[in-house]
Amino acid sequence: MNHRDLKRHLKATGNLQQELFSEANRIRQQEIGTNVYFRGIIEFSNICEKNCYYCGIRKNNQKTKRYLMNMEEIEKCLDFIQESNYGSVVLQSGELTTPKAKEFLLNLVEFTHKHYPEMGITLSCGEFDYDFLKQLKKAGTHRYLLRIETSVSSLYKKLHPNDHSLAKRKQCLENLKKLDYQVGCGNMIGLPEQTLDDIISDLLFFKEMDFDMFGLGPYVIHQDTPLATDENQKWWHENKENIFNMTLNFIALLRILIPTCNIAAATALDVFRPDGRIMALKAGANVIMPSVTPQKYRNDYLLYQNKPCVDGNAERCYRCIIKKTRSAHLNPVLGEQGNALHYLIRTNGKT
Ligand code: 5AD
Ligand code: SF4
Repeated sequence: MNHRDLKRHLKATGNLQQELFSEANRIRQQEIGTNVYFRGIIEFSNICEKNCYYCGIRKNNQKTKRYLMNMEEIEKCLDFIQESNYGSVVLQSGELTTPKAKEFLLNLVEFTHKHYPEMGITLSCGEFDYDFLKQLKKAGTHRYLLRIETSVSSLYKKLHPNDHSLAKRKQCLENLKKLDYQVGCGNMIGLPEQTLDDIISDLLFFKEMDFDMFGLGPYVIHQDTPLATDENQKWWHENKENIFNMTLNFIALLRILIPTCNIAAATALDVFRPDGRIMALKAGANVIMPSVTPQKYRNDYLLYQNKPCVDGNAERCYRCIIKKTRSAHLNPVLGEQGNALHYLIRTNGKT
C-alpha cells in the first residue's frame, strides 16, 4: 500500500472497512492462527513524576489519590493470575525513577520470577536508563511496553511539557531492543490536532522499528487535564465515532504490515462501545489484558475518564473476557505465555 492507500484505509467505514478487516484476518489466520493470549494486568502504583497533558494520573493532578500496592497485595494478584492460567502478567505503573522506586520494581520482578517461574513478565513503567533496564531484564522481565504516544515531534511537544523528550523515549526503545527484550510500542489515536498524516507516520515508524508487540488505543479525554479545554472536549465528543473507527483500522493495518506481531486490544476501546475490545480482536488484535487490579484501587488509576470495569473485580473480568473472546469465534488460550512470534523469529527462539 502506498501513502494514499494507507490514508484511505485509515479513515475507512462501511464496505471498505469490512474489506480491510477481512484482509487483516486472512493474514492473521495465515501467520499466527486464531489464538488469543491473555495478560493479567496489575496497576500496582499510580504515582508518576511526569506531567503528560492528556493523562489523568499526571503528577500535577491533585484530585488523584496516590497509592502503591504492598507486596502482599501484589502477591494475591499474582496468585490469581496463576490460578486463572492467564500465562503472563503486565506490571504497570506511573513513571517513577527515584532509587527507592527502582529498588521496589527490581524486587518485584525478582519475586515474581522466583515464585511464578512459568509466568511471562511484561513491564509498563515508563522510561529508565540503560543499566537499570539491563538489571530488570536480568531479574526475569521478558517484555517491555513503552508507547511512543506520537512519533511526530511537533505534536509530541504540544502534548508534553518541555522536559519530556521524544528523542529520549526513542532512545529508550532502542535500548530495550539492544537488551533483547520483547519490545512493545504504541500510540494514541484521535489526539487534538493530530492529522491523518501524523497517524500514518506512527504506522511507518512502527514498521521501521519493527517492534514485536503493540498496545495502542484511542485518546479519551480526561476532564482534569490541561488537554481538556472546552474546545477540545466539544471536539472530542463530536469525533468519538471517527476516533473509534480509526483505531480499529489502525490495528488492521498494523496486522497487515507486521503480520507476526502481538497486538493488544486496549481497554480504552470499551469506553466507546461495550464490545470495543472484541471488535479490536476481530480487526486483527490477538492479545487481551484483563484487569487484576484490586477493586479498591481501580478508581484511582484513571488515565482517562469513563474507564470501564472500575466497579468490577478480577473474577468478573475473567468470566467476561473468556466469554467475549469465544463469541468472536477466536480461541482463548490459557496456560501459555503467548510470546510474539515476531520476537521468536527475530531472535531465533530466545525468550
Ligand atoms: N486516553 C487514552 N490513553 C491514555 N493514556 C494516558 N492518558 C490517556 C488518555 N487520556 C495512555 C498512554 C500511556 C498509557 C499507559 O496510557 O498512551 O502510555
Ligand atoms: Fe505518567 Fe504515563 Fe500518565 Fe505520562 S502517560 S503522566 S508518564 S502515567
